[in-house]
Amino acid sequence: MKTVTVAIVGFGTVGSGVARILLESGETVAARAGVRLKLKYVCDTELARDRGVKVPAELLTNDLDRVLADPEVTVVCELVGGTTTAYDVVERCLRAGKDVVTANKALLAERGEPLVKLARELGKAICFEAAVAGGLPLILAVRDGLVANRITGLTGILNGTSNYILTSMTKQGTSYKKALAEAQAKGYAEADPTLDVSGGDSAHKLTVLARLAFDVPARFEDVHCEGIQKIEAADVRYAAELNYTIKLLAIGRRGADGGVSLRVHPAFVPRSNPLAHVDGPFNAVMVRGDETGDTLYYGAGAGQRPTASAVVADLVDVALGRAEITFAARDIFSIAGKGTVQSIDDVPSRYYLRFDVVDQPGVLSRITGVLGAHHISIASVLQHEPVEATSVPLMIMTHLAVERDMRVALKEFAGLDVVHNRPVCIRVLDEERSR
Ligand code: HSE
Repeated sequence: MKTVTVAIVGFGTVGSGVARILLESGETVAARAGVRLKLKYVCDTELARDRGVKVPAELLTNDLDRVLADPEVTVVCELVGGTTTAYDVVERCLRAGKDVVTANKALLAERGEPLVKLARELGKAICFEAAVAGGLPLILAVRDGLVANRITGLTGILNGTSNYILTSMTKQGTSYKKALAEAQAKGYAEADPTLDVSGGDSAHKLTVLARLAFDVPARFEDVHCEGIQKIEAADVRYAAELNYTIKLLAIGRRGADGGVSLRVHPAFVPRSNPLAHVDGPFNAVMVRGDETGDTLYYGAGAGQRPTASAVVADLVDVALGRAEITFAARDIFSIAGKGTVQSIDDVPSRYYLRFDVVDQPGVLSRITGVLGAHHISIASVLQHEPVEATSVPLMIMTHLAVERDMRVALKEFAGLDVVHNRPVCIRVLDEERSR
């Protein structure tokens, strides 16, 4: 059986997971893959800390030059994370004639293009299954399984940490802060969890997916991004009352004109939609192809073992010789794509609005007057008996409205003396568009 020599650069959570699979399950993987992966180096600047995996001392090194100079090593796993050192590592590996496997969505989304161009020039491959949705073979499915399709839509829960937090707030009534601490303790969160809760991590993943699925040279800055930091317990409760669940969604749509819209934001998801039932740290992505209709991918998108599993799948792809062929023949991280990314201003959506209003005659008509003036049609209204004399919560669900109109309406609400505070505004997943 053919043997291919591998190096891991970055001995963190994912790096130690990959080392463990290669050292402890190498024979099982070889039997299934038809090729043997020999781990020769685990490279990191800090090697003393116990990672819970026994790596023979002779494999450990802090000398990247030694790894790069070794002609036996044909593929390197970049598992450093971040966009600076990792960029240099990938560039140097490619220039040294190695293929690269990476789990680094931030690197690909923010600085991927020059690296992909370089890999093409050098006839090398960059594989990134582990960068999007951890253990789900989503890149494989979109790249190969759905190759006969024009992809028209993607709707996904792509961040396990945020989904864990929202699930705990919804099901256990846990506070945002406590749920985030739990997600960090369980190893789901990024080193800087702001990336998780701000939507940045999902936006990184959506950028990578958009390049693959929509054949558009999407940039991270093209993704409209809002996180879950401002979601309040009250909105979680009202969502349930209205038969919805709040999820952080990553949404990509191809418009009739070929333009693509890309956004990450919290959304009211109807309970009738399978994405409403994706709980805890799990990811799920619904991909719509023109031939297949909707296809749904579900599984562990965060954590050491699922992510390491995806890295090893890419290593096998490289070892069998398929990765370089695919990378050379297809624009899978689109650079040449002609599509354009649409501004969020033009995107239609349904909205949930929550106002804290004065309890007096005429309030409702003033609010609905603003909506009407901006062509925003009301689908339903919910108001309970007041618990305080001074204010009462008022919830409005709208029909489809264009983002630009909603922005103007929100500004006008701020000027109404009958509305306390800024209204809460959360988009509602439009089921027609997700099918
Ligand atoms: N921090 C990420 C998440 C890990 O919570 O989904 C996988 O990218």
